[in-house]
Amino acid sequence: MKLTSFQQEMLDGKHGYATQKSMEILNALGEIFDAEEMIPVTSVQIAGVSYANLGEPGLEWLAQMAQDGRVRVITTLNPAGMDLENWRELGIDPEFAKNQERVVDAFAKMGIITTCTCTPYLVGNLPHFGEHIAWAESSAVCFANSVIGARTNREGGPSALAAALTGYTPRHGYHLDRNRQAHVGFDVQSPVTGTAQFGVLGKVIGDILDSKTEWTIPYITGIPTANTDELKSFCASIATFGGTALFHMEGLTPNKTTIPKEIITVTESKLKEAEDDLNEEGASIDFVSIGCPHASLREIQYIAKLVDGKQVKKETWITTARPTKQVADRMGYTQIIEAAGIKFACDTCCVVAPIRGRFTGLCTDSAKGCYYGRGRNKFQTKHCSLEDCIEEALTK
Ligand code: F3S
Repeated sequence: MKLTSFQQEMLDGKHGYATQKSMEILNALGEIFDAEEMIPVTSVQIAGVSYANLGEPGLEWLAQMAQDGRVRVITTLNPAGMDLENWRELGIDPEFAKNQERVVDAFAKMGIITTCTCTPYLVGNLPHFGEHIAWAESSAVCFANSVIGARTNREGGPSALAAALTGYTPRHGYHLDRNRQAHVGFDVQSPVTGTAQFGVLGKVIGDILDSKTEWTIPYITGIPTANTDELKSFCASIATFGGTALFHMEGLTPNKTTIPKEIITVTESKLKEAEDDLNEEGASIDFVSIGCPHASLREIQYIAKLVDGKQVKKETWITTARPTKQVADRMGYTQIIEAAGIKFACDTCCVVAPIRGRFTGLCTDSAKGCYYGRGRNKFQTKHCSLEDCIEEALTK
């Protein structure tokens, strides 16, 4: 690793403890990945925010870094373990809430914007094409690399914080052109619409990529159009099932790539098989959750239209970023949705919140939500369109 004199000063401790520890982390990563130098980053998104994941040792480390560490670029957080304002109504244990607040306070002390969301690109942490950034949340990393055309590796919590505190990351992986070329083509021969179906497509392609370690970047054809919500769902799913951090979609994503020779066909039957996989037969649903990744304003507006004047019969959450909810408040969508009995869970999500054991079966339009709902929270799962999720919520 070649360091500039400023970076060397950071490593030597001339800019404080947290900066030094951060540069040590980045320098070590650079050595491991054979990076030649550091590059400046313009945006950071930090994961590992839930106290359930961090525990006391993680919190202690953050508190040490917060003593003199201050971020140098715009930095936001991934979802925390609870709604930071409304946690009581959502049934969060007060002891957990106290510890979660200590975590968020440590981040805030470092100058991090405590908007806790996996969709930072919807609420002001939005890089442009070609910008080098350091993001950690897998769905957001995939969205940033693929849909926006920014450049980021899939950072861990400590390396993302280190990038925020120094303004640098080692130049390797997805920061380099040569590592952004497609390896295999997928031709989708069946229409795909809506967040749920795009999640299923992400699972089909992700599962195939996962089984072939030499393929990580797909080139996808046969999708004439997709909106931002569909793409965010696709990103979450392909990142979950395939570990994918970058894809190309012909006509829809902005990055240049060589076109692979090998093409795999995605048929209707493959999509149906994956859909069946996400649905457990006879799942007993008592919890409906929408907003994985965090719900957009358009999704919230649509839900308000679907539930206007109606009443849900099952516990139903919309997980979203607080700034998105604030606009929904102003537009009156929140009032309609809450009058229907649906709860907003801002700053958190149904995977990182400590809700294991509280419900039996989860209904969601998110393929990623099903994967973690089943694996982490032991929920039975039903995967269906947003409209059908609302129908499920309205049914006894
Ligand atoms: Fe976001 Fe939580 Fe889903 S972090 S992508 S809502 S699992």
